[in-house]
Amino acid sequence: MDLNMKRIIPIAIGVLVLACGSTADGDTTTAEKATGQSIFNMNCSLCHGRDGKLGLNGAKDLTVSTLTKPEMVAIVRSGKGAMMPYKNVLTPKEIDAVVDHVRTLGKAK
Ligand code: HEC
Repeated sequence: MDLNMKRIIPIAIGVLVLACGSTADGDTTTAEKATGQSIFNMNCSLCHGRDGKLGLNGAKDLTVSTLTKPEMVAIVRSGKGAMMPYKNVLTPKEIDAVVDHVRTLGKAK
């Protein structure tokens, strides 16, 4: 009995901390941007760099890409050349978010 409580309480605290950590302002665009950015940093920056310009393994400089959003979504879904397909790695919503992030990278021009 006492032993059970000792195990459950830390888990409950962990869940609480996680819940509070997510955006408290309820601004969905900010939240989606953060998600797209974190997906990008985890999955794409390896070749493209966090700013999209790295170009490792022949990766394109994303900041100068002239592709439309649907074209980018298609490449991320199905892959191209040395870039692997992400349709089994990311959900359509995640792909949408990460492409939206890619499209913000070019705006610094
Ligand atoms: C293994 C390295 C690698 C990773 C990881 C990678 N890419 Fe790529 N990416 C490439 C290469 C190489 C190309 C160029 C493909 C070609 O044209 O032959 C490319 C091309 C692209 C293009 C097309 C750019 C253009 O203008 O033609 C987009 C958009 C893109 N990547 C987005 C992403 C996104 C988003 C992710 C993460 C979900 C990602 N890439 C992960 C290597 C990578």
